[in-house]
Formats: sequence, structure tokens, C-alpha cells
Amino acid sequence: MCILNKNIFILTGAGISKESGIETFREKDGLWDNYKIEDVCTVEAFNKDPDYVNNFYNERKRKLQNPKISPNNAHISLAKLEANCKRNFLLVTQNIDNLHERAGSKKILHMHGSLEKIYCMYCKHSEIFNFELSSKYVCKNCKNVGMVRIDVVWFGEQPKYLDKIYSFLENTEVFISIGTSNNVYPAAGFIDFLLQTGKKIIFYEFNIETTNKSSLFDKNFIGPASKTVPGFVDRIIKSK
Ligand code: APR
Repeated sequence: MCILNKNIFILTGAGISKESGIETFREKDGLWDNYKIEDVCTVEAFNKDPDYVNNFYNERKRKLQNPKISPNNAHISLAKLEANCKRNFLLVTQNIDNLHERAGSKKILHMHGSLEKIYCMYCKHSEIFNFELSSKYVCKNCKNVGMVRIDVVWFGEQPKYLDKIYSFLENTEVFISIGTSNNVYPAAGFIDFLLQTGKKIIFYEFNIETTNKSSLFDKNFIGPASKTVPGFVDRIIKSK
């Protein structure tokens, strides 16, 4: 089936970056096995011990800058799918890494923020950064100390770009979920939102295993994303 003349919405999660060498969250040995969410991923944690939180993200960023970490074939194929799509295309990622951009994706929204930026909680000034963040950092704009934090959405905070996302979902004809456990809302609820519209929408899921939402999809591609996604994209492009 050629989906290139349909409006395509892609949702990605940590699983797509796993084969690039970045840990997922909820799998065995994933980040939440080694850290407590409430110690690193909440505003309360930041207020209590800012440098513990800063260092958690400094470590994630350092890892991403390792020359061995690069986009894998799943990221590359999604950029190819976007380039071949003749209608509207949107890639929404829950990931805070920059592997989709490095693979060439253009129409992308990081709904959980990214490791690229920091912002000041006092004056909202935001900037791209390339250094180890510490609680001694002085905001370039308001000169306050210790108010600058990573621009990542923590638990209890509102994900970014929800207006844009839901407005795209209104006209989505193909929904593809890749490498997410579909545990964290609102992203996990996008499929329910689409199903309740009653519209004719195609649903595909790519994961190494079934998830608690798998039964809602028309087709489940089980296997590593770096294999299943390129195979799928190549078939779609050949069939056009
Ligand atoms: N190919 C495809 N899927 C994979 C692969 C792979 N190579 N490796 C792992 N997966 C799947 C796992 O089976 C799992 O379902 O990726 C999923 C990763 O799930 P999570 O660790 O829960 O990550 P994610 O769904 O992105 O988490 C959502 O939770 O803690 C927060 O903010 C964090 O953005 C994150 C959000």
C-alpha cells in the first residue's frame, strides 16, 4: 500500500535510538533501573539537588557527543520517508537526543524537549549550549545564578508543542509508532485520540516486542527498528 500521498504522523521513542547506543528507559538495565525518576526528572529533584540533576543530563549529552554514537538506519529511513512524502509529514519524538536531525529529518518536534538547549526558570531566556551545566551557571540575560536548567520536560510538566501536534493529528491518515513502550501520556494516548475520531486511519507499530497498545494497531512490525523500518520504507518507496 502506498502511503506517500497521505498525511503521515510518526511517533518515536527511546527504542529507535537503542541501536545507536543510547539506553531506553523501562527495559532491563534501562535508565529507570539505574536512576529513580523522582531524583532526576522532576522540578522537586532539581530544587533539592540541582547538580545531581545537571550531571544526569551532562552525562546524557556527553554520551551523545561520543563519535561512536550516530543515527542508525531507522533514523535515516525516516528522513527518506519524509523526503518522499507528497502530503503532510510530522515526526514527533519523545527522545531528547539529536539523532533524527543528524539523519536529515526536518519536520520534527521534540515533545519532551532536547539536550541541545537550556533555559532560565526566572527570565525564560533560552540558549543552545555545549558545556557541562552546573548550578553555578549565570543566566546570560538576567544574571541570576542557579536558575538555568536543561530544556527537557520533567514528570509533572506539560509536554511541548501539543497544539501543533493535535492539530496535525486531526488530519492524520497514517499513524506510525516506533520504539516506544506507549507508557507515558499524552504520547501514549495519541492512538486513542485518533481511534475515537472514527476516521479511516492506518496504524503501524514498530517495536522489538508487543506493547500494551499493540492490539490497537493494524500491523505490528516486531524486530529491531534499524531492520524493520528501512525494509518498510524501501517497500513503500518502490511501490509508488
Ligand atoms: N527497535 C524497536 N524497538 C525497541 C528497540 C529496537 N531496537 N529496542 C527497544 N525497543 C522498544 C522497547 O521494547 C520499548 O517498548 O523501545 C521501547 C522503549 O520504551 P521506554 O524505555 O519506555 O521509552 P519511551 O517509550 O521512549 O519512554 C517515553 O518516558 O521516562 C520517559 O521522558 C522519558 O521520553 C521518555 C518517555
